[in-house]
Amino acid sequence: MTMTHAAGAGAPPSTGGAGYRIGGAIVALVLLVLLAVQVFEIFDDDARTIPEYRWGTPPISNVQSGLSGVGTDELLRERATLQGPREVFGPSPENQRTYQVGSETQMISEEIETPSALQTLAWSDPSRETLPMVRGTDRVEGISSLPYVGAEVYERPFARDWRLGMADFATHLGALAILGFAFLLAAFLAIRGRVPISSGKSGRKVERFGFIERATHWMTSGSFVMLALTGIVIAYGDTLILPFGDYVLGQTGWLATWGHMMFFPPFALGILTMFILWIRDALPSKLDLQWLKQGGGLFRDDVHPSARRFNAGQKLIFWSVILGGGILVLSGITLMFPFFWLDINGMGWVMLTHAIVAVLMIAVILGHIYIGSVGMQGAFWAMWTGDVDRNMAAEHHDLWLEEIDRKRGPAE
Ligand code: HEM
Repeated sequence: MTMTHAAGAGAPPSTGGAGYRIGGAIVALVLLVLLAVQVFEIFDDDARTIPEYRWGTPPISNVQSGLSGVGTDELLRERATLQGPREVFGPSPENQRTYQVGSETQMISEEIETPSALQTLAWSDPSRETLPMVRGTDRVEGISSLPYVGAEVYERPFARDWRLGMADFATHLGALAILGFAFLLAAFLAIRGRVPISSGKSGRKVERFGFIERATHWMTSGSFVMLALTGIVIAYGDTLILPFGDYVLGQTGWLATWGHMMFFPPFALGILTMFILWIRDALPSKLDLQWLKQGGGLFRDDVHPSARRFNAGQKLIFWSVILGGGILVLSGITLMFPFFWLDINGMGWVMLTHAIVAVLMIAVILGHIYIGSVGMQGAFWAMWTGDVDRNMAAEHHDLWLEEIDRKRGPAE
């Protein structure tokens, strides 16, 4: 069903065409370069999933390290070799065989009668911040080559998966997703230009969003943008900010860490309010399939699929914000209270989930910001002044406009 709705006659479409397209092309080129750098980052030698062991000038003074005398450098080198990953340094000098589960390996899987006993082990000083890590552990399970109960807390195979997940999936693929999606949007702008009001502006307005709706939107979006920026500093500070020096990274990192927590309450309140305000307009309907089949009319000026107040694209944004935002808020609260209700593996999963959902949501919201600003003529004003041109409403939300006219009486 392709519909060209009877919009009021108006001035011929003018979207400022060429300027936007040239802008889109320049941004697309810059993003292409950044994408190439990111791909190089993935395949260059310093893959972060393998811990780095470096030596040279001893990093700490002899007094601090407890080592002194001639050959300290040698000692540190040996120590690093012993602790280094076997795939990099070869078999341990003292123990030439490959690691395997044999009779001499301690297999532990037993109930602990008094979980608090773990806390009294010599390696776990109760005054330390590490104490909560073992709190609540009522079962020890795993393979340990160390001769005491609870050693699996330190020897956790999951820690390797966690490191791989954080470094490769969340960080590297996350950066690819954000840059790649931004590139597609900029390329779309360069090729397609802005989606115009194809029947031109009518000069007559219709109210689309009330004050409460707009205030909620800007509170949520403002805090999301701040959460995203501070989160990017936390996740990518090493790459993006360290080149400006340790001091700058230290200060920005400090601000970002606190800012990240401060902007979460308005964001959480925002998504809850959005849910209440817009859930009725965002329920799926058969019309959505038609809208999706026609690509939302984004690719051709003469195609305007029917829609009520929210079209399928907007409903997808709404549900991404509610579900993605909900997951981010819940996982974020869990991260703010480490080990409060989850053990160390649980915390690892929560951190991974938080990071992966965050990068996906940043990519989705980039698409939303694009279409709500430069991507579509007149869209921005719906959320700024609350009013849109009637011709725009007729082209993108025909059924909603009819309903509004029935309720409020046709516009003069
Ligand atoms: C910062 C730049 C942003 C701009 C310029 C922007 C613009 C807009 C506009 C113009 C609309 C109304 C579209 C219509 O007429 O129906 C809208 C709706 C909406 N915005 Fe934003 N927005 C921004 C950021 C955000 C953020 C960060 C979020 C959430 C985290 C968000 C969530 C929503 C939702 C859920 C809707 C209703 C559904 C929809 O229209 O897609 N917005 N936005």
